[in-house]
Amino acid sequence: MTDSKKKVVLAYSGGVDTTVLIPWLQERGYDVICVCASLGQPGSSDIQAIADKATKLGAIASYAVDMRDEFCDTAVADAIAANAMYQNTYPLLSALSRPVICKHLVRIAHKEGAAAIAHGCTGKGNDQVRFTLECQALDPNIEILGPVREWEFTTRQSEIDYCLERGIQIEVNKESPYSLDENVWGRAIECGVLEDPWNKPPRDAWVMTCEPTEAPDEITQLEIGFSHGKPVTVNGKKLSMLQIVETLNEICGSNGFGRIDTIEDRVVGLKSRECYEQPAALALIKAHKALENLCLPADLLAQKLDLEHAWARAVYSGLWYTPLKSALDAFFASSQKTVTGVVRMELYKGSCVVTGLKSNHSMYDFGLATYDEGDTYDRSSAEGFMDLFGLPNKVWAQKSVGGDIAELDDELAEVHAEADVETPAHCSK
Ligand code: ARG
Repeated sequence: MTDSKKKVVLAYSGGVDTTVLIPWLQERGYDVICVCASLGQPGSSDIQAIADKATKLGAIASYAVDMRDEFCDTAVADAIAANAMYQNTYPLLSALSRPVICKHLVRIAHKEGAAAIAHGCTGKGNDQVRFTLECQALDPNIEILGPVREWEFTTRQSEIDYCLERGIQIEVNKESPYSLDENVWGRAIECGVLEDPWNKPPRDAWVMTCEPTEAPDEITQLEIGFSHGKPVTVNGKKLSMLQIVETLNEICGSNGFGRIDTIEDRVVGLKSRECYEQPAALALIKAHKALENLCLPADLLAQKLDLEHAWARAVYSGLWYTPLKSALDAFFASSQKTVTGVVRMELYKGSCVVTGLKSNHSMYDFGLATYDEGDTYDRSSAEGFMDLFGLPNKVWAQKSVGGDIAELDDELAEVHAEADVETPAHCSK
């Protein structure tokens, strides 16, 4: 017997939008298969209950998938190697979870013979882009449905009424005044009063971090051990990546460290005000960078920094399953061979400072660096080095201004006068 109904796999969170999507998709001729992901968001300890709820609401099948370890061992590990910071500020969290979710959505779509995948993202955000690009990179023939982008509901109440008319009781938990996305790598907080960039985020915006002024009065010491760029121990104890992230969220968050408040450029063209809490992410990237500074040569660090920005931009924009991302990962993997060692940090009332580094691969050479006894540095080469290193500038100075600083000052003063800016004191006559 052939089943004439089309099947769709729905990324189901248990929230109002994705609950409404079940009858909405059914009425458009789909059999709905729900996938509930645990990425460590609140309530995710019982994703089986969320999956069961989806089945009760009419889904023909529901999957509860615990993705926490996979998320940490793949996406989070890659992000640490890349010191991932979008616009130098945001360690990515939603952007890192989507590739893992999309992988499972496509896997389940194939298993169930579904030709479409649906999500509950709005039309103004990055996540619609990530779901579409990432699922289609894994299966270019799969259709991606984002009904929330164009559907008829403008208020929560209209969604609730729509369900009630169909005999579906939606339990609306006390709604947050913010739009949230949460996983083990952090918490994104948007909308509500935060939409005015002049408004300070109210206290209730923050959940993973305490008020820095209310953090303990004593310094908390922390040691993070890395092996080939991957965090492997906290305070000498070997832990899984997931356990490390959970442990550091707790230790750093309870010291008031981990808050971000920024204006961000979305891939869909608009600026938005975003607040994040990412205690473990910020601490791990800070520690990892410090260890890299100890273990890697200067030219590799400089090149890597450029590529880190490219990686964060690509991942932010939904380009996870691309040759660009794979090639960048290959560069980072090669760079991490010697990034093994221990980083000591101190946490105190909202700050997290690196206070010690050690590694068998340290490139720091005491003999070369010391100004005390035991100096092995050959200073006699310095003069010749400077002659050649400074040669291009010397030539430029001779040719272009004849070495006459007064002339250069006059030129500068003219430029400043034309541009109507204040002339520096040493140029004014
Ligand atoms: N701006 C972040 C990103 O695009 C976070 C989005 C979080 N989503 C939300 N519904 N609050 O990665």
